[in-house]
Amino acid sequence: MRDSAGWTDGVELQPLALGEADGDVCLLDVTRLENTEGAASRFLTPVELAEYAELRHPLRRREWLGARICLKTMLLRCRRVGDPLECAIVKDLRGRPRLFSCAPASTASELYDCSLSHKGRFAGACVARATGTMVGFDIEAVSPRLLTMSGAFANDRDVLISAQPTEERLAILWALKEACAKAVGSGLGMALRDVICQETGPGRHRVVTADGLEFRARHIVHDGYVVALCVRENRPAGA
Ligand SMILES: CC(C)(COP(=O)(O)OP(=O)(O)OC[C@H]1O[C@@H](n2cnc3c(N)ncnc32)[C@H](O)[C@@H]1OP(=O)(O)O)[C@@H](O)C(=O)NCCC(=O)NCCS
Repeated sequence: MRDSAGWTDGVELQPLALGEADGDVCLLDVTRLENTEGAASRFLTPVELAEYAELRHPLRRREWLGARICLKTMLLRCRRVGDPLECAIVKDLRGRPRLFSCAPASTASELYDCSLSHKGRFAGACVARATGTMVGFDIEAVSPRLLTMSGAFANDRDVLISAQPTEERLAILWALKEACAKAVGSGLGMALRDVICQETGPGRHRVVTADGLEFRARHIVHDGYVVALCVRENRPAGA
């Protein structure tokens, strides 16, 4: 789909059937992003450009920009904004991204909840469909990387019903728990081992934090990566 003014022409998103009625989820292959500096000036507000200017490493700049282009392209193509500069993704004090309206003549107000992730060649974003819906989104590569760290995040009470190789199981648990930590917004403050994941049907999970906050979650495997989404209605105060 095109946006009304052609802002996103040439941006190739990969929509994922993960958000269902809760939100929209897409990936962008950042290795295929061309003219990144031109794209930055087209897509980023002055506040976002200032954050971008602080990033030095070329791969970090590319993944950071890719996630924002992905999210804004989704919003433009479904006509939720008319111009990339009508909204800005601004971090809160804990690092959680927040999507604000900055359309002319509007007071800055928070729009739908969103969550960003990047891993390897993919950057991705999720944006909630309704105000009040909390989302957390994560991408993790299926690789041996997590084998030596599983004690830090896997719990005996985690349940996955489908039989997968160990590397895939660990990537699923990691991505679900990171998505949960992002929805809560606690960042490094959350002990992932205390988050419990129980698969209730293929690719569908119940995820519960140590203090009893419960999320509906889903995962899919896409091109060697696990992509996970945690969702909850009624964002608690302060989240
Ligand atoms: C901060 C954290 C969420 C980043 O995740 P990551 O896997 O390193 O990287 P990802 O690419 O998936 O996600 C990065 C994005 O998360 C988002 N993010 C950062 N802090 C966040 C927070 N407190 N809440 C929600 N989202 C956050 C940002 O949008 C960031 O992207 P950006 O820098 O382009 O804006 C993660 O490191 C974390 O704190 N996890 C929870 C605790 C944990 O993992 N402990 C390790 C012990 S096993």
